[in-house]
Amino acid sequence: MDFNGLKASLKSTPAFVFDEKVLADNLKEIANLKKKSGCLALYSIKALPLERVLKMAKEHLDGLSASSLFEAKLAKEILADTGAIHITTPGLKENEFKEIAALCSHITFNSNNQCQRLQRKAINEASLGLRVNPKLSYSNDLRFDPCRPYSKLGVALDRLPRLTENIEGLHFHTVFSNTDYQALENTVRLLEQKLGDQLTQFKWINLGGGYLYHQIGNHQPFINLVTKLKAQYALEVYIEPGKAIVGNAGYLVSSVIDCFISDGKNIAVMDTSVNHNPEVFEYQKSPELFEADSQGEYSCLLVGSSCLAGDIFGEYQFSSPLKVGDRLVFLNVGAYSLIKANRFNGYNLPDIYWLGINNDLVLIKQDNYQNYRSQW
Ligand SMILES: Cc1ncc(COP(=O)(O)O)c(C=O)c1O
Repeated sequence: MDFNGLKASLKSTPAFVFDEKVLADNLKEIANLKKKSGCLALYSIKALPLERVLKMAKEHLDGLSASSLFEAKLAKEILADTGAIHITTPGLKENEFKEIAALCSHITFNSNNQCQRLQRKAINEASLGLRVNPKLSYSNDLRFDPCRPYSKLGVALDRLPRLTENIEGLHFHTVFSNTDYQALENTVRLLEQKLGDQLTQFKWINLGGGYLYHQIGNHQPFINLVTKLKAQYALEVYIEPGKAIVGNAGYLVSSVIDCFISDGKNIAVMDTSVNHNPEVFEYQKSPELFEADSQGEYSCLLVGSSCLAGDIFGEYQFSSPLKVGDRLVFLNVGAYSLIKANRFNGYNLPDIYWLGINNDLVLIKQDNYQNYRSQW
């Protein structure tokens, strides 16, 4: 990717740029995995519900997965009847449930209570499942860990109800950004130990998201596992990746708008902020920066333009000092950035550009004062 060319051709910053070529490569990787393993794949639209992304996912995958009524409506609008729509959420509400059941092909209940109260209302509409929580933790950060103590996500295996024939599927989602299949293998082994031949009672299993398929060199463990689940238990096997489809396809381009020294450190203020990528603040992680040079002799703290003192992207090394007007590109910010973006302090959302397969750059969305005004 020619990031210097991209910076030069952008008409405005801050800009969220989405790279169609990277998306196409990610989708090809998943299509390949589908072919080799026989799994079915959905795009988890919570990562980035951009219409163009959903339309491309529709071409290559078996459907979309949703976590709310609005996401389910959007999924249906995109797919019509051309693919599966799965939903699971602790937030299923009785007053929305009828509509959700009419939109979704698969509904996975998150708790025994939710299942008991709502399942009657969806029989003959959708295939019903239950989210299980295997209580195998793979994160040191509780905020990311669905298997944390007192988790609200899924039913512990020792609390599974007596399963009725209405419940046709199982679902679990336990990891984030994994680059090998160890956790998946351990989880399926545990399910086999606990449920044994009961697994044959189900029609399908959804293995969730959380794996960065394009960063995994050896897919054989995944292929073996899916093949086994299909052969031994006659299960349809779904995956529902989000970040693996869009994470590395999104860039946030921003301009330096002020430079000064504070307590001896170089500070560069950018025309973006953690408003545009709230996970930088939530998880205190610095996004990868194209211009950074770990051997560079100039160090600079990149900060956002909001009033929040902790609106800091991180300290980076550069080969030359930054100056007002320089453009900087944060990489790997396609997932969970724009969807969480906000207008705190009255700063506009970033402009959204689509970088096409043939390198054509199109401005697809630009908010203005009226969008801010109508929100309030
Ligand atoms: C139930 C469920 N499925 C799929 C995903 C997508 O995960 P990822 O974007 O890490 O692949 C998530 C993410 O939070 C999730 O909660």
